[in-house]
Amino acid sequence: MENEVLRAIRERRSVLRFKPVPVPEEKLEQVLEAGRWAPSYANSQPWTFIVVRDEKLKAGLGELVDRIALARRGKVAISGKGIGEAPLVIAVVVDPWRDPRHFVEAGAVAAQNMSLAAHSLGLATYWAGIYEAGGGRRSLESQVKRLLGVPREMHVIALLPLGVPAYEATSERVELAELVRHDRYEG
Ligand SMILES: Cc1cc2nc3c(=O)[nH]c(=O)nc-3n(C[C@H](O)[C@H](O)[C@H](O)COP(=O)(O)O)c2cc1C
Repeated sequence: MENEVLRAIRERRSVLRFKPVPVPEEKLEQVLEAGRWAPSYANSQPWTFIVVRDEKLKAGLGELVDRIALARRGKVAISGKGIGEAPLVIAVVVDPWRDPRHFVEAGAVAAQNMSLAAHSLGLATYWAGIYEAGGGRRSLESQVKRLLGVPREMHVIALLPLGVPAYEATSERVELAELVRHDRYEG
């Protein structure tokens, strides 16, 4: 039988448009709590969550992501849609000094916990891919870091625009039988 966790995992979808209504503070706190309780290597908890509500900053983030997405059209599937119009954006920042080997995974698992929590609370989000391994000063990640005042040595793993979904999103997955193998890769 499907329980609430399994239902949230199966029904969560990335949503790029939000209704112009605020996110209740208690729901925001529950979403952030879900990030706080994510697992991390040796419980290093290398993350900081920046809640961006400032209209100019949100618009700036949206423009940055869109501009880079446009420049790379066809190469990577990123878009900044919804970032400017979402009531708030959570930037998932990680500190490699606290976890030099697994900071990316730590940020990813916290982001996924938050997006599942958001869905379970009637909210929605999507993952705007920001992190660029080895990205230079002109990378999208560096520009996002400058805009948000994130120290150079840290990384922004994702931007999560958060709000009430304006539509019902759909996406499919490949069949489980195509993903699962037994004992060895080549059977
Ligand atoms: C690492 C990562 C980066 C992503 N970057 C973007 C992005 O920049 N823009 C976007 O619109 N969606 C982005 N997504 C969302 C994916 O496009 C989405 O999860 C995928 O199409 C499956 O759809 P679903 O989340 O609705 O099931 C990203 C997802 C992940 C995990």
